[in-house]
Amino acid sequence: MTLLLALLLTVILYLVDGGVVLTREVKALAGDSDLYLLFDQGCKTTDAYGSNNCEWGWGSLISGSLTSELGHDLLPGSTVNLKFTVNRLIKWEFTCPACDANCTTTIPVVNQPVTFPLPPCPIQAFEVVDQLFNTTLPAQSPSPVKVTASGDIVIKDQTGATVIDLYLDMTVQ
Ligand SMILES: *[C@@H]1O[C@H](CO)[C@@H](O)[C@H](O)[C@H]1NC(C)=O
Ligand SMILES: *[C@@H]1O[C@H](CO)[C@@H](O)[C@H](O)[C@H]1NC(C)=O
Repeated sequence: MTLLLALLLTVILYLVDGGVVLTREVKALAGDSDLYLLFDQGCKTTDAYGSNNCEWGWGSLISGSLTSELGHDLLPGSTVNLKFTVNRLIKWEFTCPACDANCTTTIPVVNQPVTFPLPPCPIQAFEVVDQLFNTTLPAQSPSPVKVTASGDIVIKDQTGATVIDLYLDMTVQ
């Protein structure tokens, strides 16, 4: 599983955790890299990067396939930055090393700290074609209220060049 997919699933499962409406935009992608993420169900449109405008109900299976390419190695000094606005006014931002680290952040609203491991350095250039994945959303929402979150996940390499800038807009209710 690639770093990006892991991050995306982490965000979906930990942040929004349930009935989810998801829209995304690939704002930047390194010229030597590629991303095509296709979900089997729940999405209304597709574009050059795969499925978009998705909606999944509580307890539903999310499955799909990932084709992606990282054109060059990510060495120590590479970073992952998440900068979200939650419920239209709460800022949630963290930057972690992209590799050789455990990343800890506190999810706003639920005020829950989470730690997830990043892969060892270097993250070697790779190409995966049609890698299948699946996960099941929880049966019901952990949040009694509607939660919205939008913003960017940016991965930069050790030179500071952007590998990907992925904008996400999510609603859980
Ligand atoms: C991440 O945390 C685990 C469990 O505490 C630890 O074994 C591991 O060495 C940590 N990794 C890094 C890169 O610090
Ligand atoms: C989900 O993934 C697991 C492990 O990769 C696989 O065994 C299972 O058949 C998959 N289920 C579906 C419904 O795709």
